[in-house]
Amino acid sequence: MNSNTRLVAMGMASNAIGTVNDIMWARAITYKYNAWLLLDAVHYAPHFAIDVKASGCDFLLCSAYKFYGPHVGLLYTKPGLLDRLPTDRLRTTNQMAPYSIETGTLNHAAIAGVTASVEFISQQGKGNSLREKIISAYSNIGKHENKLAQRLYHGLKEIPGLSIIGQPFGKFERSPTISFTLKNKTAEEVCTHLATKNICAWDGHFYAIRVMEVLGLLEGGGVTRMGISIYNTEKEIDIAIKEVKSLSK
Ligand SMILES: Cc1ncc(COP(=O)(O)O)c(C=O)c1O
Repeated sequence: MNSNTRLVAMGMASNAIGTVNDIMWARAITYKYNAWLLLDAVHYAPHFAIDVKASGCDFLLCSAYKFYGPHVGLLYTKPGLLDRLPTDRLRTTNQMAPYSIETGTLNHAAIAGVTASVEFISQQGKGNSLREKIISAYSNIGKHENKLAQRLYHGLKEIPGLSIIGQPFGKFERSPTISFTLKNKTAEEVCTHLATKNICAWDGHFYAIRVMEVLGLLEGGGVTRMGISIYNTEKEIDIAIKEVKSLSK
C-alpha cells in the first residue's frame, strides 16, 4: 500500500478455508493511507454478527442467500459515501443514492424474503430489540456451529492420509468451514462418494482461486469442503466422518 491506494477490498472470512481475517488491523492500515476499506462479508454473515460501525468499514457486501434468504445482494456504505461516487454511464431520474445504483423495478418479493431471513435469524436469540435478538442469535449460532465444526475437524484429523487445510480451531476465530485433501483420492471422488450417502459437500476451488494457487492446491482438483450450518447435528457429523474414513482404506 502507498498514498496511491484508494480502496482496499478484502474478505472477512474465507469461503474456501474458513479463515477469519483481522479487520481492525486492515482498518488501521487503510486509515494510515487514507484509503477506503471494502469488506466482502458473504461468507462471514451466516456465521457471525456484523457491526459495520465498529468495523469502521466504508463498504460492506453480503448475500442474503448465504444466511437463509433469497438471492439478493446487499451493499452497505458509510452514510453519504455513495452519493460521492459517480455512476458510470448511468443517468437515473434520481441521482441520489441508493436510486443512482438501483434502477427499474426492484425485486420486492425477494427483498421481503431478506426481511424474513433476518427475522428467522433473530428468532434464534433473545432480547428486547431486533438488534439485541440478532446479536444473541449469532452467539447461539456460533456456539452450535463451532461445537460441530470442532467435532468434524478432530474426527477428520485422525483419518490417515487426510490433511486439513486452514487454521486449527480454538486458537483463532474461524468459520465452521472445513476443507481437506485425501491421499489417493481426488476431491471430486470424495464428494461423489459422499453424495451417494446424501452428504452434500463440494470440491474444487470455490472461486477462491488465489488462495488455492498460493497453497498449491489449484492443480489436481482442489479440496473437499464441508460447511456447518445451524440445521446440522452431531449425528450428521459422525456419519460424514465415517464416510470419509471409509475412503481412506
Ligand atoms: C466470500 C464470497 N464472496 C463472494 C461470493 C459471491 O457472492 P454472490 O454469489 O452473491 O455473487 C461468495 C459466494 O460463494 C463468497 O463465498
